[in-house]
Amino acid sequence: MRKVFILTLIFVLSLVSCSYSEEVKIGSCIYRFNDAFMLRFRNAMSEESEKAGAKIDIADGQDDQSTQDAQIDDYINNGVSVLIVNPVDRMSSQAIIDKAKAANIPVVFINREPTPEMLASYEKAYYVGAKAEESGTQSGELIAEYFKAHPEADKNHDGKLQFILLRGQNGHQDMILRSRYSVQAISDAGIEPVEIAGAIANWDKLQAMTIMNAFLMSIGPENIEAVIANNDEMALGAVEALKASDYNKGDASMYIPVVGVDANASALDAMDRGEMLGTVLNDADNQGIAAVKLAVALASGGDINSIGYEITDNKYIWVPYQKVTRGEK
Ligand code: BGC
Ligand code: CA
Repeated sequence: MRKVFILTLIFVLSLVSCSYSEEVKIGSCIYRFNDAFMLRFRNAMSEESEKAGAKIDIADGQDDQSTQDAQIDDYINNGVSVLIVNPVDRMSSQAIIDKAKAANIPVVFINREPTPEMLASYEKAYYVGAKAEESGTQSGELIAEYFKAHPEADKNHDGKLQFILLRGQNGHQDMILRSRYSVQAISDAGIEPVEIAGAIANWDKLQAMTIMNAFLMSIGPENIEAVIANNDEMALGAVEALKASDYNKGDASMYIPVVGVDANASALDAMDRGEMLGTVLNDADNQGIAAVKLAVALASGGDINSIGYEITDNKYIWVPYQKVTRGEK
């Protein structure tokens, strides 16, 4: 009896020490901590890692690819079991994949999409994100729906929609495709879109505010029928500039519909106050959870097809976007 007990004890202890030594260590790199959307993403990843019993380190690339490259080298040298990378420059993903491959470490990219060729070069490379064109289409539809429901929104009565486009960072798939598909959705709705002005504001609220101020001066608010921003932070920057011109403060005759993407809390608040028309949910929670679940399965030899998120083409997890409005104003 006693012998059985001791043997059982040894067995249990060996199980404990074995699972301990196999703890999954995730090395994660974020392009820049000072980004409202990526903050939501980081929080989701940390929470999920804790739930999964995995250890996660998250590094701030400070919007500098060479800084991020050094962080990846450190992770690999320190023996992480898997990488989750939000590249500073998505075109640098190949170099990251090559390093991961040489060390035989799986790598899950998030939010900034490597090309299919890059992903194909390593069987343990994946992407978790949302389809950029979907968010573009949905934000264009929000504007088109508003324009149809509000004939007075066509300020110069020409049947066309004169809009300003605030773009994210150069080269980012969300900048390229959201811009293209938002405009496409307006024309698909039967309204001719006319971009009267546009600029790159790098996902940034302050840059967007400065640019929008300049447009308000040079074009005049009475000639602007909508503002389409590639994300909420830039939409909020535009809203700040509009408010400084006494627009979007409750007077229906002084209103320009503004749409963004992300559904960050500050944008939802602005929508509640009637300052912003709408946004599109960029589901950071599910993207963060899916990235960690996939990383843990890859690192521990688990079945990646039973983590609760569908894997497409053996490479992608796509989390859907969703339109968000606050009802009729
Ligand atoms: C988000 C932006 C964010 C960017 C960072 C986009 O998907 O909509 O808010 O700044 O990702 O890469
Ligand atoms: Ca018009």
